[in-house]
Amino acid sequence: MNIAIAGCGYVGLVTGVCLAEAGHHVACIDIDRQKVIQLKKGSPPMYEPGLKELLNRNLEQGRIHFHTNGATAYPRADVLMIAVGTPQQADGQADLQYVFQAAKEMGTKAKTGAILVVKSTVPVGTGDQIDQLIHQELERKEPLSIASNPEFLREGSAISDTLRADRLVIGAETKIVLDQLEEMYADFHLPVVRTDRKSAEMIKYASNAFLATKISFMNEIASICEKTGADVEWVAQGMGLDQRIGSSFLRAGIGYGGSCFPKDTNALVQIAGHVSHDFELLKAVIKVNNEQRSGFIRSIQDRLGANLEGKKIALLGLSFKPNTDDMREAPSVPIAHALHQLGAKLVAYDPVATRHAARKLPDQVLFAQTIEEAIKGADAVCILTEWADIQSFPLSAYQDFMRQPIIFDGRNCHTLEAAALAEVEYHSIGRRPVSPIYM
Ligand code: UGA
Repeated sequence: MNIAIAGCGYVGLVTGVCLAEAGHHVACIDIDRQKVIQLKKGSPPMYEPGLKELLNRNLEQGRIHFHTNGATAYPRADVLMIAVGTPQQADGQADLQYVFQAAKEMGTKAKTGAILVVKSTVPVGTGDQIDQLIHQELERKEPLSIASNPEFLREGSAISDTLRADRLVIGAETKIVLDQLEEMYADFHLPVVRTDRKSAEMIKYASNAFLATKISFMNEIASICEKTGADVEWVAQGMGLDQRIGSSFLRAGIGYGGSCFPKDTNALVQIAGHVSHDFELLKAVIKVNNEQRSGFIRSIQDRLGANLEGKKIALLGLSFKPNTDDMREAPSVPIAHALHQLGAKLVAYDPVATRHAARKLPDQVLFAQTIEEAIKGADAVCILTEWADIQSFPLSAYQDFMRQPIIFDGRNCHTLEAAALAEVEYHSIGRRPVSPIYM
């Protein structure tokens, strides 16, 4: 098939290279000229394991092309996909201006019989609005089928999440469109959910909101564990073996971040509000998530004092999760700003995200090239992202490099036994503190 994709962000680019890998001819369009130049040279704008290799292989084989507009690609395409951003507006609603812009252009240029597929995360009913925009406002004569095909990939494992997804969700109003889209993905051999457009749009929000709920639920349990003496890691293990609950997304920590959960949970609260439904449960999920960061700061102040003037604190891990350089809604940002406000001198380390982080953290933060350099002479360390090198950094080395080995682990990277053995003071989430003075 000939496929044109508007938007070369995570979703558009990963979908594009994976469809090209399946043998389709893919044209990816992005208005960012610099990004397009880099992509034509085989250099993706973001760090994502496996993406560069797949991009280069498909560029060499001539199955993927990049353009700054859809002038040539849209009229040729059998399937036109919208994968542009839907950023959060001040009131929490998704901003759909880029989606509608792309839809308009596609609506005027697409050939007869083509299918317009919305991959971006959009509120329920957006497909209907696009339909109306194209067929009534633009007065397009030949019908253009509009479908919803939400994306469930995660940053850091985007390629395998796409090629080996748990499910493929296709929402469309006719059987023929559902069949054609299923055929487009046939090589991926995925379980398929065929549904109507609105349900497909809702599946995406409901899935992200449910996963965010699991995380906030565990973070609440973690707070209660801290107060009662239970251990949240054991609790998560014991719960997760129940197949009805499942073991994933039960990791307590400093809360979820990234470009999706914070935005999509807020948007779903708004979507519910528009139909006069007060989504109290999801509002609480969002509140608990914000509270995780304040609680982490409070635990540092409880130990080091309310005023952190003159204290050197090392921040280990800055991206919102490992294996990505994405800093969007990363918990490290509010935590760094709060610690800076309290007077702490901050030194930060991240294996890949420092360039992006420098724009978001306070100007006074120093960046270290290695973990050793970051923790040297520090009064405390905060582990904020569970990168592999941070997890495997030996606890005993904190003893060697720090002024006093006090660790606040926001990601529960170490066992309490290992902390006790290394004779470091170790504060984590939902578990008792370990300290040579408590032993
Ligand atoms: C998320 C969803 O997992 C994808 O299915 C979805 O396609 C994507 O949003 C999207 O809507 O585009 P992503 O934001 O890349 O993917 O990252 P996740 O791996 O889901 O992690 C999100 C956040 O939750 C991270 O900050 C992570 O640290 C946190 N998290 C995750 C926890 O705090 N605990 C957990 O147990 C799991």
